[in-house]
Amino acid sequence: MTDWNPALYLAHAGPRLRPALDLLNRIDAAAPADVCDLGCGTGTATRLLAARWPQARIVGIDSSPAMLAQAAAESPPGDRLTWRQADLSSWSPPPASADVVFSNAALHWLDDHATLLPRLMAALRPGGVLAVQMPDNFAAPSHQALFALARDARWADRLVPLLREAPVARPAEYRRLLAPLAADLDIWTTEYLHLLDGPDPVLTWTGSTILRPLLDRLDPAEAKDLAAAYGAALRAAYPADADGRTPFPFRRLFLVAVAA
Ligand SMILES: C[S@@+](CC[C@H](N)C(=O)[O-])C[C@H]1O[C@@H](n2cnc3c(N)ncnc32)[C@H](O)[C@@H]1O
Repeated sequence: MTDWNPALYLAHAGPRLRPALDLLNRIDAAAPADVCDLGCGTGTATRLLAARWPQARIVGIDSSPAMLAQAAAESPPGDRLTWRQADLSSWSPPPASADVVFSNAALHWLDDHATLLPRLMAALRPGGVLAVQMPDNFAAPSHQALFALARDARWADRLVPLLREAPVARPAEYRRLLAPLAADLDIWTTEYLHLLDGPDPVLTWTGSTILRPLLDRLDPAEAKDLAAAYGAALRAAYPADADGRTPFPFRRLFLVAVAA
């Protein structure tokens, strides 16, 4: 697996931050002692957690060395804020060790939410909060166009096994999983109308996320062809408005569960 590209990911830092703020604002926790940020990436949301709870010990966990290096460059680890490299598919937090487990735009990269989410709930002390936001845009043209191109006979054998076409379940499924473990549970979806700037802005957006692993599996000429075809499909699906900005509707699923 190749690494993430922090600079490309941060190209749309503003719109990417908004859902993290909306998730953080929904958490009702006055003075948590131990907070984890799962899939912390470059630490943008982790720093918001640190600012909101100045007394808390906060650990940002991510599998990407490049994202963690960027996080540590901006916020060197100290007594209160630490960064840890781990793969969340195998990493288990100690039971009843956290007051807040936060994850913004990361858990859709992990499979088997039916096992993962109860495991994360078990990490909470009673009254602790699991707060998760995941993209829920897999049926949108931004994603469907790429899934269709990946099925091209030139590379389908390599790309189709990498596709994550429906990694996020319906809200009712998360309720079924979490309600037995939660004293309080709130699940909702929001469709943002992100306004993106610059040339090929949707390609820049998805280029750092869903496109990246596919390009990495192709040789350079094939990667160029796939990116060109995908860019053309995105320009047709998401034209710029008269003011030069490109509206990009993007639905996201949120869940906030308070441990019983
Ligand atoms: C879209 S970024 C979100 C980063 C950050 N939470 C934010 O809001 O800016 C997704 C992050 O999830 C991390 N990630 C994906 N799969 C992971 C896994 N299995 N274990 C740990 N981190 C993972 C990636 O390395 C990446 O930094």
